[in-house]
Amino acid sequence: MTVTLIGAGNVGFHLGNRLFKKGIVVREVYSRNLENAAHLANKIKAKAINDLAKISPASDLYIIAVKDDAIASVSEQLSQVEGMRENLVVHTSGAAASSNISNYFKNYGVFYPLQSFSKTRKVAFSTIPICIEAGRKKDRKLLRKLGNKISQKVARISDTERAILHVAAVIVNNFTNHLFHIGQTITEKEQIDFDLLKPLIQETLLKIENLPPYEMQTGPARRNDKKTIKKHLKYLQKFPEYAQLYTLLTKSIQDAYRR
Ligand SMILES: NC(=O)c1ccc[n+]([C@@H]2O[C@H](COP(=O)([O-])OP(=O)(O)OC[C@H]3O[C@@H](n4cnc5c(N)ncnc54)[C@H](OP(=O)(O)O)[C@@H]3O)[C@@H](O)[C@H]2O)c1
Repeated sequence: MTVTLIGAGNVGFHLGNRLFKKGIVVREVYSRNLENAAHLANKIKAKAINDLAKISPASDLYIIAVKDDAIASVSEQLSQVEGMRENLVVHTSGAAASSNISNYFKNYGVFYPLQSFSKTRKVAFSTIPICIEAGRKKDRKLLRKLGNKISQKVARISDTERAILHVAAVIVNNFTNHLFHIGQTITEKEQIDFDLLKPLIQETLLKIENLPPYEMQTGPARRNDKKTIKKHLKYLQKFPEYAQLYTLLTKSIQDAYRR
């Protein structure tokens, strides 16, 4: 199987390296910026290109890993390359509908790795769920086969399910990470070592391996310790934005246990 990667950002970088490691030939890597394309392409023995019009139509699969808002325009440009029309083209987005591609290619799909990727951080790829979808059975089979080469978990997920999963993913990952950032901002501002909180952060994550998060909730909102909540809000007067978030989340926790 030969693959062309369109996009050399966080996902392009990790996916490209994983495919290469598993012996899948990545023919070309495209990025608007040739240096970005070359940085990845050189590592995985692919050709770097920065002109979509020059993409070879000879690959078995085209993976578009550009920012969500650019998927449709990249698909459109790709569809104008001679010999491309019959090719299988997928994107890697949790949020974008497959119509971003199916509007331009009759053989379309999605290959969404459900993980948070940063170029600077290694990931355990074999544990990452790959959510696949495609218009044709034959293409679903191909995507499943590719997914199984790079991960232990491949699941067919519809556009609707994927969009919902993505909302949940943003809440559990992006929002949680933002709360870690707030914790760090507060402790650093007060010259207290943020590392003191790390075992607590780790335990929070470990606990939900076996038990539902609902059962694992502790703290003043869960216990409805009004005096403590008041004290926290008084302290947070110096961070009005965080005070708002604290109030909102406290109410959400209290509501969950009132039902
Ligand atoms: N990061 C994650 O954790 C994650 C996880 C799962 C899925 N995804 C999905 O994977 C896709 C890529 O995300 P990412 O995090 O890898 O993004 P990223 O690191 O920001 O990289 C974005 C890529 O898009 C290209 N790009 C941006 N605007 C473009 C345009 N108008 N035309 C052509 N190319 C354009 C950039 O090219 P240049 O280098 O030329 O600027 C870059 O290669 C998105 O659909 C995202 O939803 C991301």
